[in-house]
Amino acid sequence: MARVAVVTGGTRGIGEAICQRLKRQGHQVIANYAGNEEKAQAFTAATGIPAYRWDVGDHEATLEGCARVEADFGPIDIVINNAGITRDGTLHRMTFEDWNEVLRINLGGCFNMAKATFPGMRERGWGRIVNIGSINGQAGQYGQVNYAAAKSGIHGFTKALAQEGAKFGVTVNAIAPGYIDTDMVAAVPAPVLEKIVAKIPVGRLGMAEEIARGVAFLTSDNGGFVTGSTMSINGGQHMY
Ligand code: CAA
Repeated sequence: MARVAVVTGGTRGIGEAICQRLKRQGHQVIANYAGNEEKAQAFTAATGIPAYRWDVGDHEATLEGCARVEADFGPIDIVINNAGITRDGTLHRMTFEDWNEVLRINLGGCFNMAKATFPGMRERGWGRIVNIGSINGQAGQYGQVNYAAAKSGIHGFTKALAQEGAKFGVTVNAIAPGYIDTDMVAAVPAPVLEKIVAKIPVGRLGMAEEIARGVAFLTSDNGGFVTGSTMSINGGQHMY
């Protein structure tokens, strides 16, 4: 059945692949984006998927953004909380702002999107929320106390909300990607990235589409008995 699906951070990287995959599944997909106007316009021109701008870390803006989507397309049944940023640095160099921005956007964004959409899913008796966590939220990562804490928080958030949604037909799951070939990973200094890739048993970076396939399963009717779970898609880098 065709549903209205919102993918945050949906115009680039993993989010873009998720948008395309959900569209191929027959859903009405809406991509959210925060700032890269040029990329968002190119994305819409290439895919036909509408892109709506708001900052998921801003509570009021998220409520308004989701209300605009619902006014234009109807109730939101599927939410993919994919938007995320990095501000890497060892603790002694990390500023409070680096800490706060990552928590505000990566973890706060999940709360804000759930506040905007979970009550409606609960009332209608069907919903799917997939939160994109990270291998680095499971295992930690040197230089990422902010990101690892936010992503680890996403895994806890997922398990708590899954318990609240279960009896209302709303599943809440997480995917923990490993290192995926995106702009975010390309920003890791080359010598550091080489060492990381050397530790991936499959011997390569993942592809965004490989995360999108997991999202397709978790959001389908076939995934109805799967809730509160974390699907690790990381080439065997961390077996958890
Ligand atoms: N464990 C122990 N020591 C480490 C280490 C590790 N994992 N990584 C680096 N070090 C050590 C280095 O060997 C070095 O030690 P020496 O000075 O004794 O040689 C010291 O730490 C400093 O290392 P750098 O030169 O790298 O330090 P820097 O200050 O220039 O940079 C950093 C620090 C910004 C954290 C950099 O190491 C970095 O970018 N690391 C990658 C972080 C990362 O993996 N980010 C993931 C981004 S993608 C993503 O997050 C998506 C996802 O979900 C997977």
